[in-house]
Formats: sequence, C-alpha cells, structure tokens
Amino acid sequence: MEGSNIYGVVLAGGKGTRMGNVEKPKQFMEIGDKPIIVHTIEKFVANTQFEKVLVLSPKQWIKHTQDLVRKYIPGSDHVVVIEGGSTRNETIMNAIAYIEKSGKLDADTIIVTHDSVRPFVTHRILEENIRYAKEFGACDTVIPATDTIVESKDHQLITSIPDRSTMYQGQTPQSFKAMHLRDLYESLSDTEKEILTDACKILVIKGEQVHLVEGEESNIKITYPYDMRVAEALLGGM
Ligand code: CTP
Repeated sequence: MEGSNIYGVVLAGGKGTRMGNVEKPKQFMEIGDKPIIVHTIEKFVANTQFEKVLVLSPKQWIKHTQDLVRKYIPGSDHVVVIEGGSTRNETIMNAIAYIEKSGKLDADTIIVTHDSVRPFVTHRILEENIRYAKEFGACDTVIPATDTIVESKDHQLITSIPDRSTMYQGQTPQSFKAMHLRDLYESLSDTEKEILTDACKILVIKGEQVHLVEGEESNIKITYPYDMRVAEALLGGM
C-alpha cells in the first residue's frame, strides 16, 4: 500500500555461527523447497499494509538475497535489500536510516522488525503488531514460559527462580515508532549499546512501556541444526 508509512524490516544481517554451517548463513539454508529467508519475506509480502519490506543482509550476501527475491517472490517490487549492521540493533538502525534517506521518516513511521530465521510468523501476529505499534508505540511478541526459568549469575548456583506465571519467552516481531526508537538508541552510551541485544530493552531501560502481542509456539527461531528438523516437520504439517 503506497503511503501507509508502515515498513516490514526483515533482519538477516547475522552469520548464524551457532548453526555451525560454514558455507552460508542459516537464513539462506533451505527448508521445504526454498531458503528460510524466502518463507519469511513471503509472509510480509502477503500483508498489504506494508509500504516497503526492507531486507537487511550481510554486505557480501546482498546480491544473492536480491536474486532470491526475484526468483521466488512475484509482486516483490516493494521489497528492498540493503546492508545490515555489526549487531542486530545496528541492523535495525540501518533500516531506519534507509527510510530517512528516502525522505519518509516521520514521528508516525512504524517498523515491524522480524528475525529472518522465524519463517512461521502468522498473518494474525503481523496484524496485531501493526495495530499495537500504532496504538501504543511499541510492542513485543511473546509466549508464556513453559519451563520454569532458573537464574544463575555464576552459572553454578541458583540465584533466583522467578514466578513462572509472570515469565514469557520473547519472539519477534518487535514493532516500534521508528524515529523514537532511534532517538532512544542514540542516547545510549557505547557500553549500553553493546549489552543491549534486544531492541525492546532499549525502551525498557528508559522506563518506557512495551505492550505484549501473543505469539505462537510454532513461531520458532531457527538457531541450531536441531531446529532445521523441527522446521521441516512444521512445514510438513502445514
Ligand atoms: N541479525 C541481524 N544483524 C546482525 C545480527 C543478527 O540482522 N548483526 C539477525 C539474524 O540474521 C537473525 C536474527 O537477527 O535473523 C536473530 O539473530 P540470531 O538468531 O542470533 O542470528 P545470528 O546472529 O545469525 O546467529 P548466531 O548468534 O548463531 O551467530
């Protein structure tokens, strides 16, 4: 939709070191008959609310990503592949910088940021992210924790066992008013930036509200080789 001021931001700037695949980052490995990243981009292209879908990939994989989009996704004129950053948050900042350079960034611009390696995101989750980001300014997709969370600061002894009924597991999308997120991020010190692996935490440490969107058990992140088998099984059952 032209002029919606809502951007899909597919984060594919990582190397996938825990997957241990040296040949290519995990987002380019195939499940079913196509690369993981293609499944993910398809979910964004299927939602007509996005003015553009920005895909951020490592510099040396940009051309490859563009080729995949052209090959697999018809009607992808509004999909733009750009360079990711050195950290996940820097990758998000590159997306915001792109929107600004195209003259489209204003206080109401919304970004729906999503891990390229969560190919099972649903239409309902994307819709709720857009709605909540518009209404509240920021939201995070989560599911209730199934296992009890045990904290150990020294990795040997238990420091605490929080009440499971108040614990959630973070998924993505995480959606924001883009300009505000960037302003908060820029106000952080370099050390704060380094320890903030989660974009929602940028708001949380500044004491700002982030609303919860209900995720899905199936909205898994492909991290380890085992997850590839789970993903194949999920695809088979869909
Ligand atoms: N990501 C990104 N830019 C970075 C780092 C990560 O866009 N500089 C993306 C990844 O491509 C992935 C998502 O963030 O889609 C979630 O991160 P994670 O699963 O940790 O991916 P990697 O960093 O690639 O994996 P690893 O930690 O195993 O190296």
